[in-house]
Amino acid sequence: MKAVAHNEGSGDMTIELPSAPMPRGSLIPGSYSEFEIEMEARRLQSAIKQPVRWSLDTCRAIAPLTLEINDLKREKDVFLIAHSYQTPDITYGVADSVADSYALSKDARDAPQQTILFSSVRFMAETAKIVSPHKLVLHPSPQAGCSLSDGITAQDIRDLREMHPGAPVVCYINTSAEVKAECDVCVTSSNYMRICEILPGDSLIFVPDRFMGKHLQNHLAGKKEIIVFDGECEVHAAFTGDKIRNWRKRTTAVGINLKVLSHPECDADVIEESDFVGSSEVLMNEALRLVSEGNKDLMLITECGTADRVIAESDDDLNLIGACVMCPHMKTTQLEDILQALRNPRPEQVIELDADVIERASLCLDEMFRLTEYSASAF
Ligand code: 13P
Ligand code: SF4
Repeated sequence: MKAVAHNEGSGDMTIELPSAPMPRGSLIPGSYSEFEIEMEARRLQSAIKQPVRWSLDTCRAIAPLTLEINDLKREKDVFLIAHSYQTPDITYGVADSVADSYALSKDARDAPQQTILFSSVRFMAETAKIVSPHKLVLHPSPQAGCSLSDGITAQDIRDLREMHPGAPVVCYINTSAEVKAECDVCVTSSNYMRICEILPGDSLIFVPDRFMGKHLQNHLAGKKEIIVFDGECEVHAAFTGDKIRNWRKRTTAVGINLKVLSHPECDADVIEESDFVGSSEVLMNEALRLVSEGNKDLMLITECGTADRVIAESDDDLNLIGACVMCPHMKTTQLEDILQALRNPRPEQVIELDADVIERASLCLDEMFRLTEYSASAF
């Protein structure tokens, strides 16, 4: 593997990624020898592939934490899942699975371990509990919410049903367990178009993301009426088509053939300006494909974690241009929170849901798995 320091300080158009979060000092990690710490620090640095931001000194400071987390995972037979927007010390230091929300829900369901630790925001940990109710699901940062899931309630769904009787309700996975329990089918950024397309009927209610709702309205115009709720992701809402047009102008002026890759939680104007749209995992894979074919100048219109992942997963030189936006909720979790939850979880770090909510919400998620598999085999 080529240990390249790509995308660190290669010009004024290069993306600025968040600096490495240093341990807060809230826990005393287990004791490890100097040799073990040195080996672990080198492993972390070579996996993350950002040797300036993640210097050896920084990696040495976090190594005792990753060493103890990995020991505890083995000892307690825990499967540690991390969303792509977690910091690289988590995704490349301690996670057993890193991906988008669809793949992670399946991994939570299918992991043989009876304890799942979900490093991410609350709705994802709740989803893990819904798909595997017999497992112990730990969520290190109970305060980590999401502007989409926190902006809609179960009562909102009941009101929408009353206003539009007979229309099926499709919810984005970024919703609470109580909201999912009121809906007919759940979707993620990787399957929402296909699922909404194949659902029977000439109308549907889509919640809570108004931008994804708008993409559905555009895509299904003349075929289906899409009734949309008014939520948004505060991170992806920050991007605009104007900003992309400006970046294209600047890069074209210096002979750069920029490829713009966006997440569907962005506005329609952003999607219009993009060369490719997909979930966090699909975006990363497309970026890797482009880079491997020699298109090294990319702009990732999404949360900063995707850039961290592309850098870590690519063996080729690349140039990530523009600016990413950091999700404050996703970035709440640090290694110390994970370690503390593994050592001795506080009651609020154990996901507990009403049996009735689990039963009804699992119908909504099962329908998503069924329709995703059906649409994959049908097309
Ligand atoms: P995906 O990882 O499924 O694309 O979702 C992104 C997201 O918004 C997570 O909060
Ligand atoms: Fe929610 Fe947006 Fe953060 Fe994802 S990136 S957790 S959708 S606020």
